Amino acid sequence: MGCNAGSNYKNRDISPVMHQASSNWYCHHCNMKLLTGLLLAAATAQAHYTFPRLVVNGKAEEKDWSVTRRTKNDNTKQGIENPTVGDIRCYSSSNAANIAEVPAGATIHYISTQQVNHPGPTQYYLAKVPAGQSAKTWDGSGAVWFKIHTTKPAVDKNKQMTWPGQNEYKTVNATIPKATPDGEYLLRVEHIALHMAMQANKAQFYLSCSQVKITGGGNGTPGPLVSLPGAYKSSDPGILVDLNKYLSAPDTYQPPGPAVWSG
Ligand SMILES: *[C@@H]1O[C@H](CO)[C@@H](O)[C@H](O)[C@H]1NC(C)=O
Repeated sequence: MGCNAGSNYKNRDISPVMHQASSNWYCHHCNMKLLTGLLLAAATAQAHYTFPRLVVNGKAEEKDWSVTRRTKNDNTKQGIENPTVGDIRCYSSSNAANIAEVPAGATIHYISTQQVNHPGPTQYYLAKVPAGQSAKTWDGSGAVWFKIHTTKPAVDKNKQMTWPGQNEYKTVNATIPKATPDGEYLLRVEHIALHMAMQANKAQFYLSCSQVKITGGGNGTPGPLVSLPGAYKSSDPGILVDLNKYLSAPDTYQPPGPAVWSG
């Protein structure tokens, strides 16, 4: 293999004597660099995902993006890194054609386009569509979102941190609380990838919003209600986080956003 990338190292902190004296050393490094680049490219391609299909009690929406709003990263599958931007709500998605009927108490999850292979929590939120508006067009603005599910890490016998749903091609199951009042809602799923989160704005948010109609519900008063953006800051301890610090007490990790409302 050639060593074309060697010139990249000329500006690095390496003595010129070493450059001339040790072309093997040189080549070793450039091959390493090439290999690392290839591995990173492969990892990157696999590591991005969208959630185009909602599953309710085991039944998936008939095709991608029919009740779930097509997110603008449909092609790139890039996550959002700054949790304070408008995209954090529903990823500037386009409205979907249909509304899924979801019985209160139903089990839901999403199909993922790729393996959800990064460490981090999965969270679900609901927002009730205001009177006179439709889930097909409402934008989800205001302090309207409440959280219905989150996940926390555990440490396995090999002292590796593991997360519910990690490495699956779907998101973890959640239950629509039985006490949720009937009506139209936006349902939002997010997976927060924390593998680079020790740097600010390097957590990656993967998310979708679906248009749903909850039936057979109750008289609960969901809350606390938050706005998106608004609920998250880049410096939240669950977002700007070095997961290695939680190995001895994984349950003390605090996912961002409000407390879960379970009805
Ligand atoms: C998740 O929910 C589906 C039904 O939608 C069910 O078939 C499956 O067993 C559930 N998985 C777990 C781990 O509970």
